[in-house]
Amino acid sequence: MSTPILVTGGTGNIGRHTVPLLRAADREVRILSRHADAAAPGIRSFEGDTVKGTGLAEALDGVETVLHLAGGAKGDDVAARNLVAAARRTGVRHLILISVVGADRMPIGYFRMKAAAEREFAESGIPWTVVRVAQLHDFALPIVKALSRMRIAPRGLRFETVRVDAVAARLAELTLSEPAGRVADLAGPEVQEVADLVRTFDAARGRTHRLLPLRIPGGVGRAYRAGDNLADETAVRAGSTWAEYLGERTSVAA
Ligand SMILES: NC(=O)c1ccc[n+]([C@@H]2O[C@H](COP(=O)([O-])OP(=O)(O)OC[C@H]3O[C@@H](n4cnc5c(N)ncnc54)[C@H](OP(=O)(O)O)[C@@H]3O)[C@@H](O)[C@H]2O)c1
Repeated sequence: MSTPILVTGGTGNIGRHTVPLLRAADREVRILSRHADAAAPGIRSFEGDTVKGTGLAEALDGVETVLHLAGGAKGDDVAARNLVAAARRTGVRHLILISVVGADRMPIGYFRMKAAAEREFAESGIPWTVVRVAQLHDFALPIVKALSRMRIAPRGLRFETVRVDAVAARLAELTLSEPAGRVADLAGPEVQEVADLVRTFDAARGRTHRLLPLRIPGGVGRAYRAGDNLADETAVRAGSTWAEYLGERTSVAA
């Protein structure tokens, strides 16, 4: 009989799309998050905090596979260390981590923290899989809305945004497969200037604005203009385009 899969952060945007795919593969799922979710068939919720290291032992008991999605603006490196330490004490055989494209290149705390989390997994002694993922369309949308409102666009900033269900499908596939180490990055089908994301957004609302170009200063600006946040030619590119994503949304005008 197969053992339950623990999904940390299974109540988040990516988690909510991934958990049903694991259930569809007939696997029992445990979810760990700081705020436990309502129970559902085949799903058990555990309250815990990966950064504080609480609730992990109970959630991991009897688990062999862990998909680690829990994350926030701070503490993902500490969370990975806590999870690895707890997983070493139980019978975990496969740790899967979602990271971010450019984790080891971008001079920004969030990216450095993701690179540190990757190292925790790679040095854990437990077989692992790490996939770096580009920003979701859902992540870009509030940024694009704000830029549209302010009528500015950082010059040279490019994104390759990806649809959440394409990410969920890849994560479920990796979770149900053997440990693979670092696998190809996952990104959306197009690399686009943020100015073009804003223009497409405005066009979907029947508007056009002149956008004032903005220069991102310092090393961060240089890294973005060099494309250090972008995947290379080995990346898997999947899901619908930004324009298709906007077309599917009824709340674009909001
Ligand atoms: N969104 C993107 O564009 C993107 C791109 C690449 C990689 N990622 C990574 O993918 C992961 C999931 O992203 P998402 O967009 O699904 O995020 P999300 O919607 O913000 O969900 C985060 C999830 O993690 C849980 N969580 C946060 N801090 C926690 C903690 N200390 N202990 C336990 N659970 C915690 C949250 O539940 P509670 O608040 O109840 O604890 C929630 O279930 C993150 O690691 C993120 O960095 C995201």
